[in-house]
Parts: sequence; structure tokens; C-alpha cells
Amino acid sequence: MANPFTLGVASGEPLPDGVVLWTRLAVNPLSADPARPGGMAPRAVEVSWQLAEDERFTQGLRQGTAQALPAWAHSVHVRVSGLKAGTDYFYRFRTSGGQSPVGRTRTADDPESARPVRFAVAGCQRYEHGFYTAYRHLAAERPDVVFHVGDYIYESRQSARVVRPLGPLPGETSRLHEYRQRYARYKTDPDLQAAHAAAPWVPTWDDHEVLDNYRGRGDGSAAFLRRRDAAYQAYYENLPIRVRPQGGNLQMYRRRTYGTVADFMVLDVRQHRDATTMLGAAQEQWLLSRLVTSPVRWRLLVQPLFFARRFVPGPAPNLRGDSWDGHQAQRSRILAANAPGLAVFSGDVHNAWAGELKADFLDPGSAVVGAEFVGTSITSMPPATDGPAVLAANPHLKFFDDHRGYLSCTVSREELRVAFRAVDFVDNPGAPVRTVAEFVTKGSGLTSENTSSK
Ligand SMILES: [Fe+2]
Repeated sequence: MANPFTLGVASGEPLPDGVVLWTRLAVNPLSADPARPGGMAPRAVEVSWQLAEDERFTQGLRQGTAQALPAWAHSVHVRVSGLKAGTDYFYRFRTSGGQSPVGRTRTADDPESARPVRFAVAGCQRYEHGFYTAYRHLAAERPDVVFHVGDYIYESRQSARVVRPLGPLPGETSRLHEYRQRYARYKTDPDLQAAHAAAPWVPTWDDHEVLDNYRGRGDGSAAFLRRRDAAYQAYYENLPIRVRPQGGNLQMYRRRTYGTVADFMVLDVRQHRDATTMLGAAQEQWLLSRLVTSPVRWRLLVQPLFFARRFVPGPAPNLRGDSWDGHQAQRSRILAANAPGLAVFSGDVHNAWAGELKADFLDPGSAVVGAEFVGTSITSMPPATDGPAVLAANPHLKFFDDHRGYLSCTVSREELRVAFRAVDFVDNPGAPVRTVAEFVTKGSGLTSENTSSK
């Protein structure tokens, strides 16, 4: 067998005592053959794995084997437990075809820990729109954990704007082998592989992992549900997540807690969405109860869609129905919980924004009840946006920037600090990174820190 580790390695879902290790074998990653995703013959392959506390694999070595099965596109998800909290680990895989690169991962902090947490937020990485340079810089920061807020792939046919072509299957993806091939296309990127190999990820999805702007069960047709099943399966196969899809559903909303500092609540704004709510009743109940009862200092909502009100001056519609402005009643119930230390991290709009969350967005005198940080895209091109006009129309929004990049954050018991990291171009490799703005909150208002490039 040729080298099957063409899609890299990854880890994810850190707990204080464990992580998930991931790889997917693909000797020919761009294979368009429905019967051979990744160019792999339809039979099981044994994969051995190792994890240790040092890169030479001499301290605290653990190892085992897993079966990479054709039914799951030869992906491997190893759940390792019994690890030390707040600790770096290194891992690798081996098959008869060779050895994988080494990945670095890290467990979540012990429940008693007051240690600050360093995390990054990324999203929206349309492949043909550019190079994943931002991921190269994110990888170099080696955060404790990376959150992905969706649009890991785009199901759409290849964009008219092509910095680099999609390859053999450039049409819209709707069948399982097409989703598998699209993920493989994305995951051949060395900068994306570096970001996965640098830190554990906790991803959530938005719409383009299935279909632009879909909600819930779509039109309810058998054809849509088949497509959603295929897309959810391919998502699982290609990301280091803990649970498999079952019966066409995948449990996505969850929390990841770091000590006494940060309760990350990762939301699913697609699967349970219906005509009246973004989250569905069960997810809302889960979120509201945790928002109120969490003993942890910060409640950090991680999800794709612009959360604060964003009135766009000009011709209607001035509010975007696909974002939280389309589900104001549920947003109000979340804000009314008055959760201390509330911050929302989002993406989707392909530009960077920061703002304050208000008890009533239409009343400038109403209380500030949290902060929102909207990460820009890794590569996806933004729509034409008059940032200054939107800021002027929404006094609670404080910052707009139109570069590609990611968020680099540190949260301690005292404060949450968010740096907007940006690259100047993605149509060629090699852009340097800089901090275009940095914001700090201690739990109420936002303060901007003057920053020069770092
Ligand atoms: Fe996007």
C-alpha cells in the first residue's frame, strides 16, 4: 500500500482525562470512484496508534490498534481515556503503508483548575477561494484548543472565483462519495493539516457541510434526508468528534469545560432548527439550564451565526433571516437568562466584528449582558459589506474588519481577551499575520486595546 496518511492526523473533544485521535486513510485522496473513497480498496485495514507525553514517544507510552473500515471511509476515531488533565500529549498512527506525521494534543484542565485557557476560533474555509495561510499561523500559536464554527467544506459547485481548483468533482456535492471526496480535497491542504496536528479541535457545523441555508429536515423529502444523512456521515468520517451519526442524526451540541474558568457551550444551529426556533426546544432547555447553573466563571457560546442584532441600512431585508435576527424570540430568552460572564463566538459572515450584547438591542440605555466576537473567514470571500454604515446603525457593534483570519483568545478568571488575527492576502501563499484589533472584557462592557502588529 502507498502512503495512506495523505489527509493528516487530528485530535479533538478534549476532556480532563481523554481525547479522540483521528486519521483517515486515503492512498489516492482525490479518487472520484464511488466504490473506492480515497482510492482505498473495500476492505478493513488495521491501524496501530501510539500516544505519549513526549515527541520521542518514550514517556508514558500508550498504544493500541483500530480497524479502519470501508463503511466509514477508512476513518479511525480512537477514544483515549485515563490521561492527565491539562497536559500535552503526542500521537501518531502506523499501517503497513507507512507512518503518519506526529500530532500534538492536550487534555482539558482539571475541574478545580484556575489556569487561563488559550483558544482559537476559525471557520469558513472555501477551498477554491485561497490558501489556508491563516491556519499556518494558528498552528504556530499552539492553542490549548481550537473551535471551528462551521463551513468546514462548501458543498457548492466550484466558485467562479478560483485561486486553486477543486479537482475531479467540481460540481455540487449531494451524494456520499461526493462529500467524502470534497472533504479529502480540503484535507490535503498542508496548512489545514498543520492546524489539526497542533491542537485538539472542537468543531460545530453550519449549513455548507450539507446545503446552503438548510434548516432541520429541509423540505422533508426523502431525497433531502438521504443527502443530509450522507453529509452527516462524511462530517463524522472527517473530523475528530466523539459520536457517530445514528439514524440520520448526529448529537452536535455539547459543552467542554476548562476548570473553573470556561464553560464552552457548542451549539447546533442547523439540525434542530424549525420555523420558530434556531435551536429546537430540547437544545434551548439544555442551554438555558446550563447558563443559569454553571459554576464556572465564563459561559462561552460557540456557534456559527451572528448573534447580536445587525441592522443593515439600505433596501430590505435589513435583518438577515438566516441568522439570529430571524429568531429574535429565542435570542431574547437566552439573553434574559442574564448569565454572568456571557460571550458569544460566531462566524458565517466572512468579516470580523465585535460588539456588546444588550438586554434590548433597540434601547441604547438597556444593560450590557455580554459580548460577541465574530471571527472572519479563513478564505471564503465576503459579500460586499459597508462596515462603517452598519456600525453607525448599530451602536452596540464596536468593530468591523474585512481581512481573512481567525480569533486568538485567552480567558482567565479575571478577563477574556480576544485578538483579531488577519492576513492581507490568500490568493498566494505566505502572507504574514498581524493583530488588527484586540478586545478585553471583564464581564460587562468591551474595551479595545490599542495594538500594533505582533
Ligand atoms: Fe461561510
